[in-house]
Parts: sequence; C-alpha cells; structure tokens
Amino acid sequence: MLVTGGAGFIGSCYLRLVRRLRPDDLVVNVDVLTYAGNLENIQELAHDPGYRFVRADIRDQQTVTAALRQHDIEVIVNFAAESHVDRSVASAEPFLDTNVGGTLRLLEAARAAKVKRFVQISTDEVYGSLGSTGAFEESTPMAPRSPYAASKAAADHFVAAFHHTHGLDTVITRCSNNYGPYQFPEKLIPLMILNAFDGKALPVYGDGMQVRDWIHVEDHCQAIDLAVTRAAPGAVYNIGAENERPNMDVVRAILKLTGRDESLIRHVTDRPGHDRRYAMNATRIRRDLGWSPGHDFEHGLADTVTWFRENSGWCERVRSGTYRSYYDDQYAARLSAAGGNDSEGVP
Ligand code: NAD
Ligand code: TYD
Repeated sequence: MLVTGGAGFIGSCYLRLVRRLRPDDLVVNVDVLTYAGNLENIQELAHDPGYRFVRADIRDQQTVTAALRQHDIEVIVNFAAESHVDRSVASAEPFLDTNVGGTLRLLEAARAAKVKRFVQISTDEVYGSLGSTGAFEESTPMAPRSPYAASKAAADHFVAAFHHTHGLDTVITRCSNNYGPYQFPEKLIPLMILNAFDGKALPVYGDGMQVRDWIHVEDHCQAIDLAVTRAAPGAVYNIGAENERPNMDVVRAILKLTGRDESLIRHVTDRPGHDRRYAMNATRIRRDLGWSPGHDFEHGLADTVTWFRENSGWCERVRSGTYRSYYDDQYAARLSAAGGNDSEGVP
C-alpha cells in the first residue's frame, strides 16, 4: 500500500492502524512535509521494517511512479492535501495545485503502474451547506462553497472520471469534521484547547451557531480501512458519527474540560462564505461494510484534551515558527476588533 500525506493528522493515524492490522504488509508513505506534515506524528514507525518514507510531492509523477513500481504497490490511499478552509480563503492556488493537480498526477501514476485500487480521502464539504434539517447522502449533488471544498470536489470528479473512462478501480470516502490526537492547531478543537490552556482568548467566528458533525479520527480511519479492503469498485461512502454540535457547544465543553470560564470567548469577524451546517448520513457504510464508530463525542473530546495536555512538547514545536505568523495574520486584527487582546481573560 502507498499512503500519501501520512505525516499529517489523519494520514498518520491511518498508518498506525494499518501497521497494527496488517504487520506483514509493506506500507510506503509519500509526503512532501508542508507546514502540516510532521514526522513526529509517526515517530513510532521510524524503525518499523514494514514502513518506508519517501519525501516527495504527489505532483512529482516520476518519483511516485518509481515508488509504485519499486514496491509493487497494489493500493494507493490519497490523504495528501491542503486541508484548511481559512488558508484557502487567504490563497486558493495551493489548493488547486495539490488537491486537484496532485490528485490528477497520482491517478495517472496509478494507471501507469497498474495499481489495483485508488482510494480518495474526501470530505462532506464537497456537498455544500445544509439548512437546519436533513443530512448529506452520497447522492446529494456536489455544491462546494469554499475554495478548499471546490478543490476537493474537483478531485472527486477526476477520480470518478478515471473510474468511468479508464476503468481504474476507485473508491471515494467523504467524512465529516475529525478531531483527536496530533491535529494541527489551526483547526477549531486543538486551537481552542491550546488557547484555553494558555488562558488566551478563544476566537469564535460570528455567532458560533454553525454546526459541524464531529468524528474521532480513529473511527474515521477504521471506516477508511473497511472501504480500502471491502468496497466495490467505484463506490462512494459517506463517513460520520452522528455528533452534530454548534461550535459554541464545543467551545463551552472545552472550557469546562480545561477549567476555564466563558470570559475567554470572543466573537470575532466571521469567515467569508462560512458554511452554516454539515451533517452526514452514513447509513451506507454502516449497512454495507458493518462500520460503526467506537468513540462518543464527550469521552473522545475529554481524551483529546488530555492528549494535548500530556504532549506539550509536540504542541510547542508545532506552534513555533510559521504557525506564529499564520496565527497573527488570521486572528490579531479580529481579536483586537472584538475588544480584547490575545491574553485578556487570563485569570
Ligand atoms: P493535514 O493538513 O493534517 O495533513 C496533510 C498532509 O498532506 C501533510 O502531511 C502534508 O505534508 C501532506 N501534503 C500536502 N500537500 C502535499 C503534496 N503536494 N504532496 C505530498 N504531500 C502533501 O490534513 P488532514 O486533516 O490529516 O486531512 C487529510 C485528508 O483528509 C485531506 O485530504 C482532507 O481533505 C481530508 N479530510 C479531512 C477532514 C478533517 O476534519 N481534517 C475531514 C474530512 C476529510
Ligand atoms: P475548522 O476546524 O476550520 O473546520 P471546517 O471549517 O473545515 O469545518 O472549523 C470548524 C468550525 O469552527 C467552523 O464552523 C469554523 C469554526 N471556527 C471558529 O469559530 N474559530 C476558529 O478559530 C476556527 C479555526 C474555526
């Protein structure tokens, strides 16, 4: 198996899972190590004889094809992506390049090396935004609204086109918002946890009543592995754990778990084009592949807070360097306009 983006949040979790499930199989990780890629996330695999790391861009078709041939790869699982909506608002180009261009190059490489299966890790965001009722199904038309979602939807279309046009065996999984250990702290949950630890302001976009459908990353990875090993060619599976929560509820739960009070909350200028609500209908994967999530949100969130508390070294390292300037660009003006500075509210 060749996994791309295995040094990121979800890819690293998937690598740990497949090494546990199939210790006799070889897994190759292709990752270019962007700001979000971190070999510390997979440190435990560094000396594993069944694991290889290739530092390469998924757009480098020659290197990827060589790796596919050298290791006789049967399955590609494509996690590599630019993954953060706010960054896609600031600059969409890298999203086009990696998420669309990179996926297309990988599809070509898969064809050239006669790979048996190509699995694309996609997102509920390709479906757009919901009103106050209903949930996305696999048959819901794609209607992406952020540059990130547009790039993921375009990639999904290329994957489906390679299935129909070239007969490539493809599978697409579309999952809701993940949380758990090793998540990069640009995303809601780790950002709020770390700010709460530090007694810093918690920047809630707009009214904070946007709804996301949360799933623990380990449950997502279990579902992906069922799709990798058991799905029919051309299949699409929604993945979600039926944990819809308004952002304000998540933020309040984090404050409680970290022993902080609500004075840290700042309602800041909203994200442009902010999707109001996501919810997944995951009946198909539950029914066809027998998947069900193992984590409930309350325990999963508490364990995640504990993980971040116990891994302060990891947190410090990922928040040093370029993260600082990203954070200032994203939040400094918003927080001062919201009437507080970054450290206001420290008890
Ligand atoms: P992440 O940002 O934590 O990790 C992305 C990884 O891809 C990093 O290791 C990075 O170095 C690598 N990468 C980026 N561009 C690359 C390139 N051109 N070539 C090689 N490697 C490259 O992302 P994540 O949260 O782990 O998401 C993984 C996948 O899951 C993405 O495809 C994302 O769209 C999808 N997804 C994420 C979520 C979520 O909640 N995080 C939900 C549904 C789907
Ligand atoms: P995020 O983790 O960026 O995931 P996505 O945008 O892909 O759903 O954001 C989750 C929700 O939290 C989303 O509604 C935006 C909101 N949010 C904030 O209110 N403040 C923040 O600082 C961040 C990063 C997100």
